Amino acid sequence: MNFRLLLIGFWLLSVSLGAEELVVGGPFAVNVTHDTATIGWVVQNGEVRDANGRLQPVLRGEHMTLNGLKPGETRSYVLPNGTEGSFKVPPTGATSFTAVIFGDTRSRHELHRQIVAAITRWSPDFVLHTGDLVANGLDPEQWPLFFDIEKPLLAQAAFYPALGNHERNSPQFHEFFAITKPYYSFDWGRAHFTVINTDLGTAGRDAAAKEVFWEEQKRWMEDDLVKAQSADFRLVIMHHPPFTAFKKRQSENQEVRALVTLWEQYRVTATFGGHDHNYQHHLVHGVHHIVTGGGGAPLYAVDAPIEGLTLKVESIEHYVRLQVEPGKASVEAVALDGRILDAFEFRPAAANK
Ligand SMILES: [Fe+2]
Repeated sequence: MNFRLLLIGFWLLSVSLGAEELVVGGPFAVNVTHDTATIGWVVQNGEVRDANGRLQPVLRGEHMTLNGLKPGETRSYVLPNGTEGSFKVPPTGATSFTAVIFGDTRSRHELHRQIVAAITRWSPDFVLHTGDLVANGLDPEQWPLFFDIEKPLLAQAAFYPALGNHERNSPQFHEFFAITKPYYSFDWGRAHFTVINTDLGTAGRDAAAKEVFWEEQKRWMEDDLVKAQSADFRLVIMHHPPFTAFKKRQSENQEVRALVTLWEQYRVTATFGGHDHNYQHHLVHGVHHIVTGGGGAPLYAVDAPIEGLTLKVESIEHYVRLQVEPGKASVEAVALDGRILDAFEFRPAAANK
């Protein structure tokens, strides 16, 4: 145990759990930037009977903010119940790193568990989730199971989730992951990651409020991308994808589709969505649009590849690996059996000129 771990462990151990309280989620590291991070965990304090007579756990999110982090270092910590975790702090400058992007982990828990085991073995520096973590974010019973499955991964990699429609904009999603705004961004090395909330259906009480949210988010995203023009790669993560090879949904997500021109204007390298439970890779005006929704949810068809745009589709459980080294980024979609479904590379935009 190093000195830092001892220090953090000492601080946390001084926060005692009540007699009836149980840690049922975490630990995990969220909001991780070059110098700060939030360590989160979820506590259950008893049960209550809901309107249907079902016993439901009473949950609350606990957090601790770490400041003064050093870019590139690995930080360890200990929860009050003795559970240990660690995470990497984003490095700065031209450096190599790995990440996993995956999503739609709801409903088929055994497959979700297998995907998490495969990702944990690969041991990425951090993880992006494209949303639909659980089938119903308003059902407190579902969160402890999600956290139980994700535990080994969340204990070793920073976590950056996007809001899916199945979260139902649940206050607990925001509380657990210490999300003050459902859109945010961060830098890792010379790559810039922008996470947005595409669940317009739950973004406001009425049409006017939803419109206000969407315009605010769009303005923020445009500003965010303007500031990130010197990054080697600009990557956008969201739940609803702008393009899909799932015929039933090809007329949906028009608001998201309308963002494509903005992404092209600000030289976004790639977007990663979920929502459709399969793997898809489209290339539109030089921007890669990936759908990675194979984290366990029931599979959907890829019955209508888009002529001239779709490069690869497969209806299969999978996750996406991102490996960045100075001057190059490699993407691989990997099935549960280790089969590489798709592989391609990005080069920094400046190098293409
Ligand atoms: Fe979804």
